[in-house]
Amino acid sequence: MSSLVEEINKRRTFAIISHPDAGKTTLTEKLLLYGGAIHLAGSVKARKAQKHAVSDWMEIEKQRGISVTSSVLQFDYDGFRINILDTPGHQDFSEDTYRTLMAADSAVMLIDVAKGVEEQTKKLFYVCKQRGIPVFTFVNKLDRFGKNPFDLMEEIEQVLGIRAYPMNWPIGVEGSYVGVYNRQLAQVELFEKSGAHGTTVLPSKQGNVNDEEFKALLGAEVHQALIDDIELLDMAGDTFDFDKVRKGELTPMFFGSAMSNFGVRPFLEEFLQLAPAPAPRLADSGVIYPSDPVFSAFVFKIQANMNPAHRDRLAFMRICSGKFTRGMSVYHARSGKTVKLAQPQQFLAQERTLIDEAYPGDIVGLFDPGVFGIGDTICGEKERLQFRDFPVFPPEQFARVQPKDTMRRKQFIKGMTELTQEGAVQVFRPSDYSVESFIVGVVGSLQFEVLEYRLKNEYGVDILMNRLPYGVARWLTSQAGPVEIKTLKNMESSMLVFDIHDRLVALVNNEWSLNWVMERNPEVEFLKVPADAQII
Ligand code: G4P
Repeated sequence: MSSLVEEINKRRTFAIISHPDAGKTTLTEKLLLYGGAIHLAGSVKARKAQKHAVSDWMEIEKQRGISVTSSVLQFDYDGFRINILDTPGHQDFSEDTYRTLMAADSAVMLIDVAKGVEEQTKKLFYVCKQRGIPVFTFVNKLDRFGKNPFDLMEEIEQVLGIRAYPMNWPIGVEGSYVGVYNRQLAQVELFEKSGAHGTTVLPSKQGNVNDEEFKALLGAEVHQALIDDIELLDMAGDTFDFDKVRKGELTPMFFGSAMSNFGVRPFLEEFLQLAPAPAPRLADSGVIYPSDPVFSAFVFKIQANMNPAHRDRLAFMRICSGKFTRGMSVYHARSGKTVKLAQPQQFLAQERTLIDEAYPGDIVGLFDPGVFGIGDTICGEKERLQFRDFPVFPPEQFARVQPKDTMRRKQFIKGMTELTQEGAVQVFRPSDYSVESFIVGVVGSLQFEVLEYRLKNEYGVDILMNRLPYGVARWLTSQAGPVEIKTLKNMESSMLVFDIHDRLVALVNNEWSLNWVMERNPEVEFLKVPADAQII
């Protein structure tokens, strides 16, 4: 039987971050293919059209061809146990994406060779940097014409402020590369032109760059160009230092094509060697090491109605320390309750399975009887620790929401309550109290669409939604304690609401109006998030 430390050391838990269409779905599928978790990679299109794929459970995703919610996939490769956290790749900001990153130990930044560093990638990269998550880079779509690899290195540095260290280098002529050069081993790997269109593992040939056979295969010109590039990289480039990767100063860079499988295996193998095993986490009682024998975990995501037929609600937890066993009793720090973890689920390739044990780095889905909330700590010993650093996201867009049919009020309130617990939206109550309407705050407008869709499909409620002209929310407090509405001055163009914990919040149009009301209420503190929360 393997020890806790052995189990921890073989785990790699990471997220793939990218702009939509960079190839995240394709790469994920190919990693599963190489891990033996699936045997024939279907085309992305086919997968997107097949509703039952785990990460595509919502109809809205199918319609729009995007992954709105995130899930996790687990597979084994070469002695490693891999957990891929699937982050939504749509244009909008989503809190869900950021929360998912909280559960990752590293991230793979996928870049389209033709497009370079795009907007969404930038945002996600900064979250990783801020959270100290090491970022690896995979430059995708090398089967097509794109930017020159040296220019891409430069772009990454200019746009993201991080140096790139190519772990391998594409060989051949732009648009029709034939292989990659492994800088550590001074080895070339040439991929066969496969007729299988990337549905199966791509055969390749490996050897030393100076072998006559490879010189002949590449042709004198391509061979010389490769030697020149490598010389330039060795001379002018950085030295590889993993400490810099950990500090967010350097990103190991790989090249390949998720579609044709070119470079996928070299990436996977080197990435697994370099990527960190589950990291220690900060709790109120100090640093919690994964090898701490007392079980601990935090909930980073809640998903209601994953299977509409069963109306279930799953809480996804990331294990931080100790060993998890099915049926164990744990303490839920926030409520002080003891919970028996009876039906833990894990997600393997395309299906969920019941699991008996899990280790730090693993993600376990628990049936949630309505106890769990996002950011909650679960621990094997009572009052031992609470994880503190769960971020809160200030909403930036607001709408007033009410049911079209007042007869559906009960279902409406149930739906709004559950979707709030799930963290899909933030809900506020207008200070001119009216049970029939809620003020909803989101980070990205797609969340409004998802809310509307899910209320209709899962709770049978059609809603009326009126967008409000506010762009900034501030929690109001003062040295003297809670702020009384009647003491506030010049708030006519703002809206005063209460959050779910009855804290007073002002919604204002923009930063300029905010400054204006702040000047007129100097005794009031205007906080970006509630006083006890941490902002991202
Ligand atoms: P996403 O999850 O990041 O949004 O990207 P996804 O994998 O869905 O890929 C987006 C598009 O890019 C798909 O094309 C996919 O086939 C293509 N793609 C992914 N990897 C590569 C690659 O290495 N090379 C090339 N040339 N294309 C790649 P599509 O036209 O939207 O779909 P389909 O018709 O190919 O299925």
